Amino acid sequence: MTDSAAPAAAPAGKTLPDAQTVTSVRHWTDRLFSFRVTRPQSLRFRSGEFVMIGLLDERGKPLLRAYSIASPSWDEELEFYSIKVPDGPLTSRLQHIEPGDQIILRPKPVGTLVHDALLPGKRVWFLATGTGIAPFASLMRDPETYEKFDQVVMMHTCREKAELEYGRQLVESLAEDPLIGEMVAGKLLYYPTTTREPSDRMGRITDNLTSGKVFADLGIPPMDRDHDRAMVCGSLAFNIDVKAVLEGFGLREGANSEPQEYVVEKAFVGDGI
Ligand code: FAD
Ligand code: A2P
Repeated sequence: MTDSAAPAAAPAGKTLPDAQTVTSVRHWTDRLFSFRVTRPQSLRFRSGEFVMIGLLDERGKPLLRAYSIASPSWDEELEFYSIKVPDGPLTSRLQHIEPGDQIILRPKPVGTLVHDALLPGKRVWFLATGTGIAPFASLMRDPETYEKFDQVVMMHTCREKAELEYGRQLVESLAEDPLIGEMVAGKLLYYPTTTREPSDRMGRITDNLTSGKVFADLGIPPMDRDHDRAMVCGSLAFNIDVKAVLEGFGLREGANSEPQEYVVEKAFVGDGI
């Protein structure tokens, strides 16, 4: 364990029932990293849900934040994909975890980005910016996604190419995946774009939907309520703007209790919100 990662281990004489052990860590950029931890045997979750994870603070109290589970529900470990906020209470320290360290994980998964919240349809759109791809990293690896939909479109937008790399490598690995490789073939359409660094495909998700560019590029018809479903995960501003675009195509927002054509979740709680 490094000096800068606060231990999740309990003080002597006390046990910490929600501690899990870090099994691997990968740094993607100076602002992004992913890691895997042991999975509590009792934890059942639906792909797309989030849990509270964290470390003990200096006073020995749990400092927890919401994190989407990026691994699919069948995986024996749990994967997370994280921002590094330089002065962030949790991630300024979480970014220093190493294999063998412990983190706290409250095994109470919740969330709206689940299949149960969508009505059946032909095509599902996963729309994400930044770390908002995390719940879709889970859903893209879930057989249910391909059983329920004929086509799956993953639109992911970041400022720069390096920030797309976690998603890109994950999508590329799916073809070789023994469990879902065959299900994914021809069904998953990946549409990564950058907005501030030149790349093969560029532009905001909202602009590529409203201009029709993404439909033309992928050779699919414009969205409509009868065929298309969507899940959205990004900053509050992104979510608000995408909702307006989806409503413009006639889609209605759903929830676990009332499935409709699209669902939304914040990828983080922004400053002052
Ligand atoms: P905080 O005090 O929590 O945040 C400080 C500031 O950093 C925020 O005000 C915001 O401006 C910015 N910020 C926080 N998180 C992000 C982010 N992910 N991307 C860009 N800017 C950010 N974070 C993840 O990294 N991965 C996840 O899978 C994830 N899932 C979440 C799911 C839900 C439902 C919610 C509400 C949040 C999720 N978050 C996720 C955000 C996470 O809970 C923390 O905010 C983040 O880990 C930073 O914690 P912190 O204590 O270091 O800083
Ligand atoms: P842009 O570079 O044009 O602002 P951020 O790092 O600020 O959270 O943004 C992540 C990505 O999401 C960027 O590519 C950014 O594009 C895009 N983005 C930010 N806000 C919106 C929004 N309201 N609608 C669509 N895309 C957005």
